[in-house]
Amino acid sequence: MATQTETLPAAVGSLSLAGEPRKITPLEPSGVLDKYQPVDLTPAAGRQFETVELSDLLDAPNADELLKELAITIHRRVVVFFKKQQKALTDDQLKRLARKLGTLTGGEGYLHIHPTEIGREDNEISPIQAESFKRSRDKRSALASNGWHTDITFEPVPSDIAILTLTQIPESGGGDTLWASAYEAYDRLTPAFARWLEGFTAEHSGEQFHQVAALRGTPLYTDVRGHPSNKGDHLKAIHPVIRINPVTGWKGLFVNPVFTKRIVELSFDESAIVLNYLFTLIKDNHNLQVRFKWDKNDVALWSNTSSFHNVTVDYQGIDRVGHRAVSLGDKPYFHPEAGGRSRREALGLPKWLEE
Ligand SMILES: [Fe+2]
Repeated sequence: MATQTETLPAAVGSLSLAGEPRKITPLEPSGVLDKYQPVDLTPAAGRQFETVELSDLLDAPNADELLKELAITIHRRVVVFFKKQQKALTDDQLKRLARKLGTLTGGEGYLHIHPTEIGREDNEISPIQAESFKRSRDKRSALASNGWHTDITFEPVPSDIAILTLTQIPESGGGDTLWASAYEAYDRLTPAFARWLEGFTAEHSGEQFHQVAALRGTPLYTDVRGHPSNKGDHLKAIHPVIRINPVTGWKGLFVNPVFTKRIVELSFDESAIVLNYLFTLIKDNHNLQVRFKWDKNDVALWSNTSSFHNVTVDYQGIDRVGHRAVSLGDKPYFHPEAGGRSRREALGLPKWLEE
């Protein structure tokens, strides 16, 4: 998964729609993790392990074999959970794991530094707290569904996999996280509409982090944020509206309500209406989502190539605490002749409209 971004200005994202197709060669699962009897939580998303410690997989003699399978599973099921973990993952383990999952599936092993992470010794780990992204009153929404996003899509080279573990759970309960499958969102499109969207790119922006930094009274982190293409305070990128996950070879929707601002090839009004429909596919379809209730030391590992997520802010105080590491993947890619397929097509499932 070599990236082509080094020759492009940092603000410019994918121009992959034109030119020679890079043929996608999907990785197939081996079944080496099946002995731990994971359970699929919904047909579209989520696989859960309860009988194995994630840190034991990381330190196993055949760790590379196990973690490659885990990475493939994350990209196929879009999110994987480890529950009943006796041993909390350390920050070093989180980072080692994130790097391994990326490099074992073709990535370069870069970890992201969030633009709001400044002044801390280890800025490759993001502490997750309730008030991390407190907004000014005029930016707050009463609609929880506005929080659906894919991590850091404002970066020219965004994330392939993110890992989050919670070390403190709200006493009041709550704080669940929801994930949605970008593959299944794509599969809800009629073929003609999907083909039309496959010709488009969209602008993604993290401009809200300027305000977050201002509220904190700190500057943004403008040095290299993991990958050499991710730097400066512009926080904008152009990516294809439909991308192919290079690990699975499956097509997914790659626009999200938090960061995607407009479809480049359409007028302002056309873009707003089309994006609103695509966001509705994510927000309103609880049959392509999975909702996860956290216990202490649980770990969630998700594909930022092919999913969306949204935390449920229904708890009081700041007693939901966790640590996150974000691996950087390749530059979002789409080409009609790259060999990408829909997930339903690849798995032999009926088309949504024909079920
Ligand atoms: Fe996120």
